[in-house]
Amino acid sequence: MNEEQKKAYHHKYDQAKQKGVKFWPDIIYKDLLVSFALFILLIGLATFVGVAFEPKADPSDSTYVPRPEWYFLFLFEFLKFVPGKIEWVGTFVIPVLGILALFALPFIDRNPLRHWKNRLTGISIMGVIVLGMVGLTIRSILTTPKTEEATISTIQDKYALGGDLYSLHCVECHGPDGEGGIIAGVEGLEGVELKSISSRDEMYTRSDETLYSIVDYGQQDLGMPPFGLAYGGELKKSEMEAMVLYLRYTWDDRAELPADAASAGAIPALGADEVPSYEVHISRLAKRYCISCHRPDKENNNYLMGSYQEILTTGDNAESNLIAGDLGSYLIQIINGGSILDENGEEIIQQMPPTKLMKEEYIHLFEVWVLNGMPETVAEAEALSTEVQE
Ligand code: HEC
Ligand code: HEC
Repeated sequence: MNEEQKKAYHHKYDQAKQKGVKFWPDIIYKDLLVSFALFILLIGLATFVGVAFEPKADPSDSTYVPRPEWYFLFLFEFLKFVPGKIEWVGTFVIPVLGILALFALPFIDRNPLRHWKNRLTGISIMGVIVLGMVGLTIRSILTTPKTEEATISTIQDKYALGGDLYSLHCVECHGPDGEGGIIAGVEGLEGVELKSISSRDEMYTRSDETLYSIVDYGQQDLGMPPFGLAYGGELKKSEMEAMVLYLRYTWDDRAELPADAASAGAIPALGADEVPSYEVHISRLAKRYCISCHRPDKENNNYLMGSYQEILTTGDNAESNLIAGDLGSYLIQIINGGSILDENGEEIIQQMPPTKLMKEEYIHLFEVWVLNGMPETVAEAEALSTEVQE
């Protein structure tokens, strides 16, 4: 600032001082007026617009992804760049340094001029910060997946979900149709006889609430584990409800399922000359009859059946389980009720499923699939079936 400018500035300042605006009451009065207007606006918003609530908190719902309000999204996004172990750097150190830098700014940038063109340092620092915040907010909106729809609403979807969960968690003991029988292949319950849970007697005497609580707490003195999250299991409330709905519609002859829901998860019959594929047939059979035992942490000779790759490549006897074109493959022998013996004549693999064989037509599906080299997709299977015709 040169002398000229300094003089002019002081002159202006003195004038303003003489005219004088007092903090009390002038400024306070203005502040109060504005605060009051804002207050009225807030009351109006709260009364007439309100806050959008999310569904009631459900402690058993592990899929809920909490999100901050939009004006904190940039911080939320910023955290993604900070590795979990040093999270405190992102949540504490860097924001505090940022705030300290704001305090320091007036001391760093001592330029007395007010017009923005004369304040490039300050404007550029602020500009970078604002751009960063806007950019991070946009990135956060674009990259964060939407919260999973909290509730599955249609009967079809619930029925399909319930069926899948039944296959995964219950089939190993109760069988694919709840028929029970003498349990085989389940650690700790070998040889225990289970009564049918799908009988009319069972369905007519157990309410939905009873079924729900049996699944929730299990029947631990009899050997049925609890499934509810609250009791150490892995099922959420909505999942257990879907399962009860599935049991009711599948086994209770008084409950009639809407027609389109009935076909969900059904295993399509094989047309003439059609070659079954993993995609359409085998994955569904595996899910319904095998997966409850053939998944991680179960007794199964390390044979997993959750995906095409797993079915083809896992297992202690992986090289013999599935051999393209060979009905002597272990898997085919055991689903036909045979068992596999080692060189000393000891049984190493029993029939599969251990408790009760699948229906003839399903065994046939596996056989045709193996004879045709175990195609994965419908397209591959179709290509094979036209070859057969030619
Ligand atoms: C580890 C084996 C096992 C698994 C897995 C299992 N249960 Fe059970 N369940 C049992 C045993 C054992 C009983 C009691 C024996 C009996 O009463 O026949 C039982 C009893 C039941 C009963 C009551 C039978 C009655 O009349 O009292 C129902 C209903 C039932 N289970 C449903 C299910 C459902 C649904 C699942 C899947 C979420 C499931 N169970 C998973 C072993 C199991
Ligand atoms: C009740 C649990 C249970 C069910 C259901 C079940 N398995 Fe098994 N599976 C086992 C156990 C346990 C073994 C280990 C060998 C044994 O005990 O006989 C096994 C082993 C196997 C093996 C040998 C794996 C290897 O590499 O040694 C194959 C193949 C197999 N099962 C196929 C199937 C198929 C296909 C189905 C469905 C149609 C099925 N299993 C359903 C329990 C089950």
